[in-house]
Amino acid sequence: MLALVFVDKVERAKRIDEMAEVIRGCLKCPLHASRHIAVPGDGNVNAKVMIIGEAPGREEDETGHPFVGAAGRFLDSVLEGSGINRDDLFITNVVKCRPPQNRTPRKLEVDTCVSNYLFEQIELINPKLIMLLGAVAAKKLLGVATINSARGRVIEKDGRKYLVGYHPAVRFYREDLAEKVREDFALLRQKLEDL
Ligand code: URA
Repeated sequence: MLALVFVDKVERAKRIDEMAEVIRGCLKCPLHASRHIAVPGDGNVNAKVMIIGEAPGREEDETGHPFVGAAGRFLDSVLEGSGINRDDLFITNVVKCRPPQNRTPRKLEVDTCVSNYLFEQIELINPKLIMLLGAVAAKKLLGVATINSARGRVIEKDGRKYLVGYHPAVRFYREDLAEKVREDFALLRQKLEDL
């Protein structure tokens, strides 16, 4: 039994790596033309919690890693403040390539990336809880119209559990929402206790 679980973990990690290679060479939507490095997502393949943001920004596009720029630094401070270890998470985005000038990803880009990559990543990581950061992720995965209508409670859909939270980048144009981001992660910390 233990050996089987181990094989499963090894196989899943291998497939996540294979997918990352495919994503780095992906030409399926127009975003490939302007990206430098695609950002498949990274972290703990055995994570109980998966975090899904919107799209890579400039620093992510330069490094190939999610949430390493300004929003990522704020995310790190919020995680630290709520007692959540980033190493325990798997972090990715709805789309894996930076949209030009950080514009909102378009429907075709979102649909292409999610159907080709994100759904399989979710199956492989098989998290007990998925935290969706921002309206793009919340709308695509849960069909919710606004963050406010969905945050603050666990939402179950198709056998998976979700929390919806403000995107950490909101604090750069609405400083008053920084506290809401902290609240969202305090709730995640609380829900982690029950997983
Ligand atoms: N914003 C996101 O949604 N994802 C990142 O990786 C960085 C900023």
